[in-house]
Amino acid sequence: MRAIGQSVYGGPEVLQVFVEVPEPEPGPRDLVVRVHATATNPVDTKVRRGGSPGSPVPSPPLILGWDASGVVIAVGSEVEHFRVGDEVYFAGNVARPGSYAEYVAVDERIVAHRPKTLSHRDAAAIPLTALTAWEALVENMGVTPTDRSSEHARTLLVVGGAGGVGSMAIQIARQVCGLRVIATASRPESAAWCRKLGADAVIDHTKPLLAQLREGGDDGVDLVLNTVQPMQNLPQVLEVVRPFGHVCGIVAPSGPLDLGPLFRKRGHISFEYMFTRPLFAAAPSRQGAILARVADLLDQGVLLGTRTTTMPWDQVQAAHRLLESGRSVGKTVLEVVP
Ligand SMILES: NC(=O)c1ccc[n+]([C@@H]2O[C@H](COP(=O)([O-])OP(=O)(O)OC[C@H]3O[C@@H](n4cnc5c(N)ncnc54)[C@H](OP(=O)(O)O)[C@@H]3O)[C@@H](O)[C@H]2O)c1
Repeated sequence: MRAIGQSVYGGPEVLQVFVEVPEPEPGPRDLVVRVHATATNPVDTKVRRGGSPGSPVPSPPLILGWDASGVVIAVGSEVEHFRVGDEVYFAGNVARPGSYAEYVAVDERIVAHRPKTLSHRDAAAIPLTALTAWEALVENMGVTPTDRSSEHARTLLVVGGAGGVGSMAIQIARQVCGLRVIATASRPESAAWCRKLGADAVIDHTKPLLAQLREGGDDGVDLVLNTVQPMQNLPQVLEVVRPFGHVCGIVAPSGPLDLGPLFRKRGHISFEYMFTRPLFAAAPSRQGAILARVADLLDQGVLLGTRTTTMPWDQVQAAHRLLESGRSVGKTVLEVVP
């Protein structure tokens, strides 16, 4: 089969379009899926740059891509929930080859039927970011995914509102959990996107956060979903979180963090990593269940798709450059089957 692979670490130019590799064989609980569309995520660029530039990857070719929508073409001997011909979507497991390929093998427990009302292209934009946002809000911060009343709603700040994760987090928090949502965005187009997805207010992360919240009549926020490297902004985030509040970060800290201000507020801090369940086999089927729930919410029109940019998959290098600009809005999808 054809895939996009790399044999050395480095910039977007190391991505080889295409390499020929054997089709995957399903393990006992695996589905083999014909990939129709995949999406780019920052994890792709981080893994692509995962060693010193030009140094060899351990078992070439390394195949990136942890988002997909496609059709099941084979199932392992112990698969229970899917059949050949099922249309599915999933993020996958970063420890296994990704979906920049015509075919990919994935554990059925982290897969769901794709939303019926969405195309493969729109479906491929969803899984990784939806799992991240859902797990952060519901599993880490204890927000109830059924309370859509806005009475006495707690306020969530989404730092990086227009990014892939922010785009799902705004919607799940507002439309599914009934939180009041303030998002950060630094440009007119990213601010407009956050409002379209349901943000009640938008503030600019390049300016002091607390002053802007006060201008809008808020003394702080109850919850923060921080999609930015905490070494860059944690003091500001800890300043805006209210007593007893919760900050959930999704980027691994690159150095020691000063959590002193959180102690005085009896605050909580947690980290979300959406590959934890598949990596450690820690109740991975919860991810299949989350994706099934998200598919229903998309089909009901409660959640909107987040695809903003579509490219043929041979344009993967351009897609990586766009993502690495740090200025993408919503999601970029790569079409594998046009
Ligand atoms: N732990 C996990 O499981 C997990 C899962 C997914 C992603 N992540 C990580 O989370 C991060 C965000 O991922 P993503 O997919 O949302 O990224 P993305 O789509 O590339 O985010 C782009 C957005 O980030 C905003 N932004 C750029 N610099 C910012 C800053 N200093 N402060 C606030 N916002 C800023 C930009 O908004 P403006 O243009 O308005 O400035 C832009 O719209 C990445 O580091 C990724 O690796 C972790």
